[in-house]
Amino acid sequence: MSAQRTVLATQVGIVGGGPAGLMLAHLLGRAGIGTVVLEARDKDTIHATHRAGILEAATVEMLAGSGVDGRVLTEGHEHRGTVLRFEGESRRIDFQELVGHSVRLYPQNEVFWDLANARERDGGDIRWSVTDTEVLDLTTDRPAVRFTDAAGERFELRCEFLVGADGSQSICRRAIPDEERTDNFIEYPFAWFGILAEAPPSAPELIYSNSEHGFALVSSRSETVQRMYFQCDPDEDVDDWDDERIWAELQRRVRGPDGLRLQEGPIFDKTVLKFRSYVCEPLRHGSLFLVGDAGHTVPPTGAKGLNLAFCDVRVLAPALVEFFRSGDDSGLAGYSAQALERVWKAQNFSYWVTNLMHTQPGENPFNQKRRRGEFRAVTASEHGAAYFAESYTGWPGDR
Ligand code: PHB
Repeated sequence: MSAQRTVLATQVGIVGGGPAGLMLAHLLGRAGIGTVVLEARDKDTIHATHRAGILEAATVEMLAGSGVDGRVLTEGHEHRGTVLRFEGESRRIDFQELVGHSVRLYPQNEVFWDLANARERDGGDIRWSVTDTEVLDLTTDRPAVRFTDAAGERFELRCEFLVGADGSQSICRRAIPDEERTDNFIEYPFAWFGILAEAPPSAPELIYSNSEHGFALVSSRSETVQRMYFQCDPDEDVDDWDDERIWAELQRRVRGPDGLRLQEGPIFDKTVLKFRSYVCEPLRHGSLFLVGDAGHTVPPTGAKGLNLAFCDVRVLAPALVEFFRSGDDSGLAGYSAQALERVWKAQNFSYWVTNLMHTQPGENPFNQKRRRGEFRAVTASEHGAAYFAESYTGWPGDR
């Protein structure tokens, strides 16, 4: 490798070109602040990576209201409620009626696509497919990132602040010395087997279904493509599952006296998603700020991942804008504590719904019956259902 490096400079260097990094770059760009985004993958690979799809109202507002793209409104679908199903008994949680809000189903890879295209449209600097990324001088006021670009050229990017938006395997987070951060995490003894299938929708709203065989989630992507998941072993091999076996498993996880049947069709994508709840504290180290999955991960059950990442950006972007405008760094000083406040609420919700709806391997019958009691207590009470609805659609103060 050549020792020659081209030196670049910008105000905010952003490591990671997923939705969090690009949303931050977009908002800073609108305020006239220079950014360079560095991303290890290429644009098409990220676009083809399927993640969750539920957007809170505040997330929708950030996309449609800040000039990214209105596609979330024209192609996304409003969901005014969701169905929680336990041992074949469905209870609908009416978000609109209970808390006056709804969510939109719009896949995260489309959120990414809209943001990447908006950055290109607005002349934003994004370097895709970078390698050998390393961050340095984090506790100085001139932090840097060294990287090799897609053409093999070496660079050093000097900036005033660095943002780690590089996902759960974040190299930025790992650059924080162990004694300067606390890693809070738990693992779960199960994962999700996710599929995409060519089939018509099975239901007008999402169904989160618990059964004695384990959990299943019925979601959708369009009139012709459906997204579904079922609880599986973390070491499950997707190649052991053909279409027939997958459909039989999904059907038995939603079966009930109401005769619910899923509409079947050819499956064209299969993945196992591991579960983890993780929070790094604090979310700042010197001139480095962590946003999104780089700082915290949630299991997908509560659909909070992307929404939490956007919440971080909603706190960090104005703090950076204020600093560059007036030199006032109080917003930056408060970033970690303010973002973590919301992160821990969402951690609790994601953990709670995950444990309510999943069957632990080898579960004690006491616990299955206790969870049935919990399900009834939550869904049969207006206050219980409103708690779920408020947590799912986003807490007051976040909108
Ligand atoms: C999805 O549509 O992929 C999805 C929806 C809700 C979740 C998780 C995933 O909680």
